[in-house]
Amino acid sequence: MYKNIVILTGAGISVESGIAAFRGGGGLWGDYKVDDVATLNGYRKNPALVHDFYNKRRRELKDVSPNPAHIALAELEKSYSGRVTVITQNVDDLHERAGTKNLLHMHGELLSIRCEDCGDRFKSDEEFSIESICPACGKKGVLRPDIVWFGEVPMHLEKIEPLLLSADLFISIGTSGNVYPAAGFVRIARNNARTVEINLEASLTADLFHEHIIGNAGAVVVEYVQKLLKGGV
Ligand code: OAD
Repeated sequence: MYKNIVILTGAGISVESGIAAFRGGGGLWGDYKVDDVATLNGYRKNPALVHDFYNKRRRELKDVSPNPAHIALAELEKSYSGRVTVITQNVDDLHERAGTKNLLHMHGELLSIRCEDCGDRFKSDEEFSIESICPACGKKGVLRPDIVWFGEVPMHLEKIEPLLLSADLFISIGTSGNVYPAAGFVRIARNNARTVEINLEASLTADLFHEHIIGNAGAVVVEYVQKLLKGGV
């Protein structure tokens, strides 16, 4: 039995729900430039374009649902005897809709908005523009997506590091290993933990994992979780 399972998820876990990943065929970074929509600089240059990009993605959330992989991870947290934590790079809300409670959104959340002026954060599934007014301070044009852009520091790192150091099983699901610090988590965890990669293809950091399970998350995560719950891995 593992005492402290830490799971890192990336865009690949939400693909079967109908949300495009970032890289590879059909990926978001094929249609948009990272510099335009995922940097503070891009936002300063054209905030309306950045709002449109995130409004579209926020709208998309209304048409999708958690898939069997999200549901299996929620079931693992509920039924496993040890602690289970999900750290996600994803900004969708599919883990929480599936029932995962012990969850850290390290790259922010589509359904959260932040005021650049007063620092207030609030949940919303509405659309925003440069005309939007901060409900806390009343200023116009100061609301930005609560998303970690390239060049910004990911969220919850102070909680994540001790979790990785104390993990005895680290599972990475649906991430290509392109973006740090998340891609480096396996390096920290592998000092004490067994490390397992579940992905459609070998990631850039595949060499650092003890075990590889190649396949669609919706099928292989479910199988792996069932084995964990039966004490078979
Ligand atoms: P990527 O798009 O880079 O990688 C997704 C991975 O999921 C790829 O390796 C795919 O092969 C795999 N994959 C696709 N479909 C799958 C499926 N059905 N089952 C299992 N695996 C599947 O996405 P991330 O690694 O999550 O950051 O990207 C990391 C960060 O880069 C994102 O959080 C985002 C992006 O720029 C920010 O926006 C800050």
